[in-house]
Amino acid sequence: MKRKIILTKDGSTTIHLEDWNEQYHSTNGAIQEAMHVFIKTGLQHTKNTFNPDQIHILEIGFGTGLNAFVTYLEAKKHNFHINYHGVEAYPVASAEITQLNYTQELKAENERDTFEQMHACEWGKETILADNFKLTKRQQFFSEINDQEQFNLIYFDAFGARVQPELWSVEIFKKMYEALQKNGVLVTYAAKGSVRRAMQEVGFNVERLPGPPGKREMLRATKIN
Ligand SMILES: C[S@@+](CC[C@H](N)C(=O)[O-])C[C@H]1O[C@@H](n2cnc3c(N)ncnc32)[C@H](O)[C@@H]1O
Repeated sequence: MKRKIILTKDGSTTIHLEDWNEQYHSTNGAIQEAMHVFIKTGLQHTKNTFNPDQIHILEIGFGTGLNAFVTYLEAKKHNFHINYHGVEAYPVASAEITQLNYTQELKAENERDTFEQMHACEWGKETILADNFKLTKRQQFFSEINDQEQFNLIYFDAFGARVQPELWSVEIFKKMYEALQKNGVLVTYAAKGSVRRAMQEVGFNVERLPGPPGKREMLRATKIN
């Protein structure tokens, strides 16, 4: 598939897939979307509401590493302890990684080495990036996920249902539900009715919340039992 690096409206980069006319992030702002959907509505909510000693995060679609990197920065700022698992079937090429401007746009140039290490570290192996941050990248298909009650928080960041409807299905959300501990939370940028209903069908309590810039709503799903 043809790929190119493009600028989004907040000045941060993303990857555009020409054949699908789809991006790795919102064209309204990649960093703004990551901060709103995953950090504010996911990570901060989990910390403020449940205050676990360690937050175990599962990311659906490690991609460019932007979500992992902003989570690392947030953890460093507040001394959160994070165990981060990023699942990805098609790792981004290093020639693309070098064209991403996240360290500059996040004013975190002093963390450039960490961002690079996130990509260079071995797949399938836990890497300690800081005293309070462990990263395990898992090269697998989402359909192969079989974790049981491991995670407090899931960043569900698959490509949209328009291009990959099979990833927004009851079958996948059942896997997500099983992977979460009690009171575990899943956040996603999507707000479609069919997605919300698939989440409810597997047992999630689903909230419709304000979305990031350019998007009216997003979803947050909680495992209550
Ligand atoms: C929207 S992008 C993820 C963006 C990422 N969170 C970031 O911050 O850059 C979706 C990701 O899912 C991956 N992907 C697509 N289909 C997949 C599948 N069936 N199993 C595992 N990964 C898949 C893609 O390669 C892509 O990296």
